[in-house]
Amino acid sequence: MTIRINPSILAADFVNFESELQRIANADLMHIDIMDNHFVPNLTFGLAMVERLQQVTPKPLDIHLMIDDPDRWAPGYAEVGAYSVTFHAEAVADAVKLARRLREIGARAGIALKPGTAVEPYLELLPEFDQVLVMTVEPGFGGQSFMQSTMPKLGLLRTQAAALGLDVWLQVDGGISEDTIGIAAEAGADTFVAGSSVFAADNPAAQIDLLRALATEHSH
Ligand code: DX5
Ligand code: ZN
Repeated sequence: MTIRINPSILAADFVNFESELQRIANADLMHIDIMDNHFVPNLTFGLAMVERLQQVTPKPLDIHLMIDDPDRWAPGYAEVGAYSVTFHAEAVADAVKLARRLREIGARAGIALKPGTAVEPYLELLPEFDQVLVMTVEPGFGGQSFMQSTMPKLGLLRTQAAALGLDVWLQVDGGISEDTIGIAAEAGADTFVAGSSVFAADNPAAQIDLLRALATEHSH
């Protein structure tokens, strides 16, 4: 199984994104958290920032939209060239329609589930998505503790993906560190978002390598 480490720039220095991205150039994708102060009680950045990051990033952008009304706003991120665009199940009006639109524009389509959102209703829709993001903290802030209670969702998704023969990426986001990444890998995740664990390290690139090695060791 291919393991991907996607650092979240939510934990980076907000006035030096270009150089911060260079410090994590050995990542697989750059995870960009878009928050609108409505879907979550925090505000980050929007389309103009993503458009600019797109010009300087050494790796493709993995956009995580923590916003209301993604049906309206998500396609714009695909149009500026984002590699993947993930919207929240709790915010979207028509998940299948939006995923199809994102794919049509040329992005990978992702759906994200908050810790309290059941995965079962989405299992039959799995062919519509390129990735599923299982939130392992409540969305909104970096630096929170990993919620192990979310792990059974990964097993259900992995079983369904295998049954349907799908190469869907299973992503976890929140509290991923050297202490927790093995738990998520064992549960079935293959794509790991890490914010504070990467940027709090003296050497973020070495931390990415460590996380990748631990995930590889625990995945099956
Ligand atoms: C939280 C964001 C995460 C966050 C993860 O709402 O979606 O991507 O940056 O940060 P850590 O790794 O510090 O939990
Ligand atoms: Zn995120």
